Amino acid sequence: MRMLGIDIGGSGIKGAPVDLSTGELAEDRYRVATPQPSEPGPVADVVADVVRHFGWDGPVGVTYPGVVIDGVTLSAANVSERWLGLDAASLMADATGRDITLLNDADAAGVAEMRLGAGRDRKGTVVVLTLGTGIGSALFTDGVLVPNTEFGHIEIRGKDAEVRASAKAREEHDLGWERWAKRLSEYMARLEALISPSLIIVGGGVSKKADRFVPLIEGVRAPIVPARLVNNAGIVGAAMAAAAAHPAAAAR
Ligand code: BGC
Repeated sequence: MRMLGIDIGGSGIKGAPVDLSTGELAEDRYRVATPQPSEPGPVADVVADVVRHFGWDGPVGVTYPGVVIDGVTLSAANVSERWLGLDAASLMADATGRDITLLNDADAAGVAEMRLGAGRDRKGTVVVLTLGTGIGSALFTDGVLVPNTEFGHIEIRGKDAEVRASAKAREEHDLGWERWAKRLSEYMARLEALISPSLIIVGGGVSKKADRFVPLIEGVRAPIVPARLVNNAGIVGAAMAAAAAHPAAAAR
């Protein structure tokens, strides 16, 4: 049972067939630099290149770093505004000749994390936060995803939370772990006041260094744990979403 997952990120577009029973990549990951500017046509061409690379003839799961409803991309915080209101799933289906399941990148990473990682068998309200160029969020209630929550855009001190507290903000403002943890504390405490999660899972590349900043987070009641699937969570979650949309193809 394999499915192709493709993760569209700010710097790279990465894909691989995923073994759905284990969540392992079934072949080496293929990565292409994200076209700059990241406009829909060139990005869809890269998605087609990834599909060709694996000679894939089934449905494909693809992530997008913004709101996606029924294949239409409705926000574009860190990509070209040309994505706004676009039927991106159809554009990619035309470019690839494959059926495309498109979903938000953090939702995809969250789905993988809940199925196979730190959220496994966790009931109640769980939020997965991906700390990267922006802050992505995936909200689960008893394991069921509430898509497109966009908690990275909560306003903190008059600014988008992700502008203050993403991993990119840490690098750009040259914040040490302590100063960054203060910003994360303020952000997570605000989020907690809104949704009262029973668990917060922190993902994104920087979560590999969770021991440097998670212990410094204060004023948050919910336990905070690092994601277990870090690099490939988006690919794996995209493949899982495509499998859920096409159970017959996934069972081949
Ligand atoms: C976008 C989210 C996305 C996150 C991580 C935010 O700026 O609004 O949709 O999940 O970045 O890529």
